[in-house]
Amino acid sequence: MTISSAPGKIILFGEHAVVYGRPALAVPVTQVHADVELSDSDRAGIWIDAPDVNLLAELNTLPSDHPLASVIHNFLFLARVSPFPNLLIKIASTIPVASGLGSGAAVSVALVRALSAHLDKQMTDTEVNAFAYEIEKLHHGTPSGIDNTVITYSKPVYFVREQPMETFRVGEPFTIVIGDTGIPAPTKESVSDVRQLWMNDNARWEAVFDGVADVSFAARRVIEEGWVDMLGTLMDENHALLQQMTVSSPELDRLVEAARSAGALGAKMSGGGRGGNMIALVDAEMAETVAKSLKEAGAKNTIITQVS
Ligand code: PMV
Repeated sequence: MTISSAPGKIILFGEHAVVYGRPALAVPVTQVHADVELSDSDRAGIWIDAPDVNLLAELNTLPSDHPLASVIHNFLFLARVSPFPNLLIKIASTIPVASGLGSGAAVSVALVRALSAHLDKQMTDTEVNAFAYEIEKLHHGTPSGIDNTVITYSKPVYFVREQPMETFRVGEPFTIVIGDTGIPAPTKESVSDVRQLWMNDNARWEAVFDGVADVSFAARRVIEEGWVDMLGTLMDENHALLQQMTVSSPELDRLVEAARSAGALGAKMSGGGRGGNMIALVDAEMAETVAKSLKEAGAKNTIITQVS
């Protein structure tokens, strides 16, 4: 039997602008994860058992563009696995779907790693990352590649599209509270809406993306130097720029405001937006208080995580 696990992630700075070549910072969130357990089976075929999405099916009965089937088909094809083995693939995930925590990329990474290990087709991290990016492209249109990168390497990532992966140092650990609006929001739609804005007024949105880039540059420096006090303001600035891009929502804004009122040092939405998650920077001893206020303001779930 082979098991594999991949973490969730949050984007600290730079979502959306990253699609247009600006830098973004993302970190893994190990409190949530996708887990794959793969074993040889007596039953003919490749059976997928994913109770979280109510799925128990043989691979060939699924449409070829099914997210799980596409990972398995593409892997078997690229790794030239023939004949297909009889397998049971169990998939479970605690990462909420379509919420900006990288559930799709985490399942792809865990699944391809389990398949490559079980079938003795070794893959480097670079290959796993490239594979997961191709899968992201199938389902998300024009992804920047940040999700698959931070999840594959499970390290803080300073990400610039089509550049080699770069990690960054965390000078002083800091605490983030994640608040989930509970509203699933497909990233594809918000990314496509931002593209529409950009096409209608290129100069205006390029300037907004440059504003985000300035925030991300500054944030990297601040995090590396351990100047945590300055990070909150940068988050607030980034949230205001995301609001301009129309990708925040009343629910996200309410949680961001609630976190700030409860004593967070700064807060912003995280990921594609319109729903999904927001993040708040807090002093460690304030984490529970801020999490409680987020729940009172409507958060369906909160996670406290340390970036270190
Ligand atoms: O997958 P999400 O919701 O965390 O969003 C990814 C971040 C975007 O910048 C909005 C899109 C992308 O591909 O980078």
